[in-house]
Amino acid sequence: MKILAIESSCDETAAAVVEDGRRVLSSVIASQVEEHRIYGGVVPEIASRRHAEAIVGVVDEALKQASCTLEDIDAFAVTFAPGLIGALLVGVNFAKGLSIATGKPLIPVHHLRSHIAANYITSEELKPPFLCLVASGGHSHIVAVKDYTEMVVVGQTRDDAAGEAFDKAARTLGMPYPGGIEMDKVAELGNPDAFTLPRPTVAGSAYDFSFSGLKTAVINLIHNSQQKGIELSKEDVSASFRKAVVGCLTDNLFKAAEDLGAKTIVAAGGVSANSLLRKELTRICKEKGYSLYIPDLKLCGDNAAMVGSQAYYEFLSGNVADFDLNATATLPIDYSTKKS
Ligand code: KG4
Ligand code: ZN
Repeated sequence: MKILAIESSCDETAAAVVEDGRRVLSSVIASQVEEHRIYGGVVPEIASRRHAEAIVGVVDEALKQASCTLEDIDAFAVTFAPGLIGALLVGVNFAKGLSIATGKPLIPVHHLRSHIAANYITSEELKPPFLCLVASGGHSHIVAVKDYTEMVVVGQTRDDAAGEAFDKAARTLGMPYPGGIEMDKVAELGNPDAFTLPRPTVAGSAYDFSFSGLKTAVINLIHNSQQKGIELSKEDVSASFRKAVVGCLTDNLFKAAEDLGAKTIVAAGGVSANSLLRKELTRICKEKGYSLYIPDLKLCGDNAAMVGSQAYYEFLSGNVADFDLNATATLPIDYSTKKS
């Protein structure tokens, strides 16, 4: 089954053709990051307008690269939630138009579920059940993936997402948006023990995260030094902050893994590109005997191949949209797909 998938939840317009959930025939991404960089973050209205301009060309290119025409496509898939509402609406309406025009099914895909599915492309043998850390710019979740479309949130952030904390700390250090990537590179050159930063926990909730206190602590450290005219090493601050964030993520993940008796650990989302997180997951899983799956670097960030992968399993479970499908800015990953 060939699915043409569309992703427009944030600042990447993407389209891909994916066969049977695992084989990527094409994947095209038009990034707007350069344009948002001058504002230090994504400007929602600009994002929507750029999606509207790019989507026809991106979809056309994805079909061409897959050597397909619309006739070869069996269904259309689109990210419908969560994300920037105006940005999502561009993809949703475009996919709806394709579905109406061709009479082929429209499959709605949850953005975080698609991040998890990036692993099905990277690792053909991976099948649920597993325990997954999903860490992106907007979300930090620990999810028990019981089946392809059946998940339970075990823990989540109470405030900032891990990627957001990386981006804000990096911005305070003068790094360009999205700062998480730059901070990761700079951190490689620094001393992770140069500064002691807090590793906040959430009282009464062993698996939930809280990154806002950690973010504020590093921002205060930078501002206080600036006020005193002391020059801080960006490398040392980045390395210390990265160590603290990764420590919070892995502490809770492995607490949950042990308590739930998980055998397989999976990582997903933009932050799963972080080199220390990848190293630490590899080290701890080896030490504790868990199997570990992490997406290829090119599949960690937003793309449509992962949407096409998850869409296949949504379709098999009967999750097909009506033409009143709407975009939704927030939606839990374990939302009910049953129609009323
Ligand atoms: O999943 P994603 O591409 O978009 C969302 O769904 O949010 O995640 C983007 C986030 C940004 O906050 C970005 O700074 C972060 O992932 N990120 C990283 C790295 N690469 C991307 N954070 C830390 N280290 C990285 N190497
Ligand atoms: Zn994402």
